[in-house]
Amino acid sequence: VAVRDFTLPIQDLRLLGPMLPGVRVALHRRVIVFINGKGGVGKTSLASNFAVNCAALGERVLLVEMDPQGNHGEDLGFVRDTSINDGGKSQADAVLNGGPIAPTGEIRDRLFVSPGGEHLERLHQELYIQQRVGELTGDSVWVHMYGVSLAAAAQAQAYDKIILDVAPGSSVLQLQALVAGDMMVIPSRSDPSSRKGLRAVARRVGEARQFNPYLAILGIVLFATGSRAYRVQADIRRQLEGDLQHAAPVFQANIRHVEAAAVACRTQGLVAQELAMDDSLDTSLRRSVIALGQDYRAVTTEILQAVALLIAQEQS
Ligand SMILES: Nc1ncnc2c1ncn2[C@@H]1O[C@H](COP(=O)(O)OP(=O)(O)O)[C@@H](O)[C@H]1O
Ligand SMILES: [Mg+2]
Repeated sequence: VAVRDFTLPIQDLRLLGPMLPGVRVALHRRVIVFINGKGGVGKTSLASNFAVNCAALGERVLLVEMDPQGNHGEDLGFVRDTSINDGGKSQADAVLNGGPIAPTGEIRDRLFVSPGGEHLERLHQELYIQQRVGELTGDSVWVHMYGVSLAAAAQAQAYDKIILDVAPGSSVLQLQALVAGDMMVIPSRSDPSSRKGLRAVARRVGEARQFNPYLAILGIVLFATGSRAYRVQADIRRQLEGDLQHAAPVFQANIRHVEAAAVACRTQGLVAQELAMDDSLDTSLRRSVIALGQDYRAVTTEILQAVALLIAQEQS
């Protein structure tokens, strides 16, 4: 076999090994990953609304957009604010250098953001190379690159919650997120292709658990569902739970299908609960924005209850 003689410019990860025990301690039951192998299923909407709600409840929150095509800027209103929207540069640099992921801004009281964007492509390539090298050397320390940077952030800034919103198409980013984070929420629509995305995530979970035995699935959120008969809803829930091999329940609370309200929120750069305060909105639009905000609040409560239950079970 002819091997071309060249040196690959690749990040040296030898310093990460000794840091790993501290990483799990710093991140334990603080990180929630919003994930699905499919786009357009509500990951970003849920992550932003959940993050705003947690911050409003008094928690210190870091929202990390692990997506080269992120929408948090739209949902939270900082797309055009270049002092905050850095296209993922600071996140990419932090993970590549093994340093803390520092937020680019505090977009609401106690809510800090690390935006995604095109700079994550560079990081993405590095992760693929590290994965390939890891396969050749048998050293899998690369799977902890995000974990190291998130743990450093958690230690420096005392976050109560770190929320990860992960690109659907990137197996390496998904693996990084599920090795760093130990609690997952899976948004899904009820159509066949969203369900395929759910089964893809189920496979990713098996892979991640080799490196992170604490990884727990909190539940599935049924996203943008129409109001259907009880029987039909129950069937959809059973199917989704089956797709996930009954590893987690579908939450009782779901996010209703109200396209106009969702578009109005994104256009204004406000989450539903915030836009609901705007009494200049047209009456019927305002009614659906209020209802949407209530859905997100109910989902937030159910996720926080699932976290509390998980922690209580571990302590008993
Ligand atoms: N409640 C809703 N009802 C109908 N459509 C919605 C609702 N909320 C968001 N959407 C639309 O769904 C699409 C996907 O949402 P998003 O949260 O960006 O998903 P993902 O991050 O999984 O790609 C967006 O185009 C958005 O306008
Ligand atoms: Mg998204």
